[in-house]
Amino acid sequence: MAITHDSKNRTSNTKLLNWVDEIAALVQPDRIVWCDGSEEEYQRLCDEMVASGTFTKLNPEKRPNSYLARSHPSDVARVEDRTFICSLNKEDAGPTNNWAPPDEMRAQLKGLMNGCMKGRTLYVIPFSMGPIGSPIAQIGIEITDSPYVVTNMKIMTRMGTKVLEALGSNGFFVPCVHSVGAPLAPGQKDVPWPCEPDIGRKAIVHFPETREIWSYGSGYGGNALLGKKCLALRIASSMARDEGWLAEHMLILGLENPKGEKTYVAAAFPSACGKTNLAMIVPPKGFGNWKALTVGDDIAWIKPAADGTLRAINPEAGFFGVAPGTSYDSNPMAMESCKENSIFTNVVLTDDGDVWWEGMGVEPPAHGIDWQGNDWTPDCGRVGAHANSRFTAPAAQCPTIDPAWEDPAGVPISAFIFGGRLSKTFPLVYQAFDWNHGVFMAATMGSEATAAAIGVTGIRRDPFAMLPFCGYNMASYWGHWINMGKKPGLKLPQIFRTNWFRKGPDGKFVWPGYGQNMRVLKWIVERVNGQVGAVESSFGLMPRYEDLDLEGLDFSKAQFETITSISRADALSEIEEIKDFFAKFGAQLPPELEKQRQEFGKRAEKAPEVWSVAEAA
Ligand code: GTP
Ligand code: SPV
Ligand code: MN
Repeated sequence: MAITHDSKNRTSNTKLLNWVDEIAALVQPDRIVWCDGSEEEYQRLCDEMVASGTFTKLNPEKRPNSYLARSHPSDVARVEDRTFICSLNKEDAGPTNNWAPPDEMRAQLKGLMNGCMKGRTLYVIPFSMGPIGSPIAQIGIEITDSPYVVTNMKIMTRMGTKVLEALGSNGFFVPCVHSVGAPLAPGQKDVPWPCEPDIGRKAIVHFPETREIWSYGSGYGGNALLGKKCLALRIASSMARDEGWLAEHMLILGLENPKGEKTYVAAAFPSACGKTNLAMIVPPKGFGNWKALTVGDDIAWIKPAADGTLRAINPEAGFFGVAPGTSYDSNPMAMESCKENSIFTNVVLTDDGDVWWEGMGVEPPAHGIDWQGNDWTPDCGRVGAHANSRFTAPAAQCPTIDPAWEDPAGVPISAFIFGGRLSKTFPLVYQAFDWNHGVFMAATMGSEATAAAIGVTGIRRDPFAMLPFCGYNMASYWGHWINMGKKPGLKLPQIFRTNWFRKGPDGKFVWPGYGQNMRVLKWIVERVNGQVGAVESSFGLMPRYEDLDLEGLDFSKAQFETITSISRADALSEIEEIKDFFAKFGAQLPPELEKQRQEFGKRAEKAPEVWSVAEAA
């Protein structure tokens, strides 16, 4: 059957035209649609998905222009076990990535993809990561057989005809092939969430040298919205190393003090550790004259500018945020962002056509339909929303979006913040002595497992929050950060680590967190500007009780001690654990990092059995 195809009217980029033809010949769709990115197209696809059962239209009075999707139970998160970096040499992928020989993987993919779009529509999605035309932005083209992906990409990226115009006839793009892996036989009825249920047949594959992405078998999140983790982190980190910039799993936040002075920070926390919360922080009572403004909640692309500042853009145009736990208490700006024009995946559908999830801060409905499509009541013994259920919302709808969030030049970064989810040992906040110490702090970061890491329990090292997202050898990535510190003329940001998650003897979080984190951010901003004191610990520079602005918060000196004291034994065992961790990287480990580890060891040896801020001060 001849495939209908309107490409000739869309672009004169012959490389693009040839690639689409080549992929179409392999996957054999019934038809090809080039996405123009218009509202009409978005509406048409939503209507089609309502008709096919993929989408449920939500009550327009409660949740205007919004939809709910339920995924297949086998397809609820990124699949790290099936994510590959197929560099030519295994060593270039490093010990923390799955690797397969590129030729073998290509042969496997060709096998899987052969005829995989039969009975379906092939959509061509031209998208820009970053404001179109920004010198920091990149263009990708995603081929997909999922209309759910098209609608999500419309929210998450700048998408459509205007991107083809920017691409021109010779522009560079990252080719991204995606299929849900569920071809339809003639007459076969489709299911609401087609995918390949066998996890062993899913594959999310990156070829860093040729800057290509191939994704098969999943329709969910970072597996399928290929601009996000695949392009903006794995492929971009590889580009960034080659070209001297940074592609990071970081939120970007603007902090304005009462004098109107703005300081931008970028912060890396592992998945499900509160990037979205911090990105949209609302300063607490007593901080009325401070403003916190959102630039991005998940990814930062950072390039040195001519004046030596590091300038960051958010390559995304939307938020793909975790729903459970998001409430008007914990994250009011996220709640406002998904008030309308949003897509919800795997949350509860209420009988009045709205959505609900655990931790939403409102009474559960007496009855609803859970994420698996079953009747649900609050006492049924099952959660209603999947733990990794998400909302897809336009960033422009965030009431605290920064006026400069689409500035093609990016915003200047003054501090990097790294944080894990650690219940003991690690203090609330500390500052690096210098750049290399900061890189060490980030490289050895740890956190508890997330939904995407199958079979992992307890704490795992998640260097720079990039463990699942670094497109090359992690040790070389650390080397790239060390090298950034050596570049002449760069205005290097200060580096900090935070830990909101330290627990007391009762097993509860001691630090109130959320909006109260503004107090820690204020200390960070004032440290950057040299306006506040600190004391030296074996971990780094730390605030005294009186250095933190705690006015209006009932937080005692004793509580402060609980989350800032350092046990010598715990510090020394951390240093030993880091030794084992570093050993995995062999000769690739930058010597600067082992040097930092030994210096940390010397500081810890000299410290009292239990170091306390009050006694040090
Ligand atoms: P990805 O989108 O997966 O990259 O994740 P994210 O970093 O944006 O994380 P997410 O917003 O999903 O993390 C939310 C989790 O962090 C929830 O479990 C929150 O309860 C928790 N959280 C966020 N901020 C704080 C805080 O200040 N203190 C405590 N204790 N928990 C917090
Ligand atoms: C993460 O897991 O860090 C996410 C969600 O941001 S996903 O887009 O699915 O990767
Ligand atoms: Mn993320």
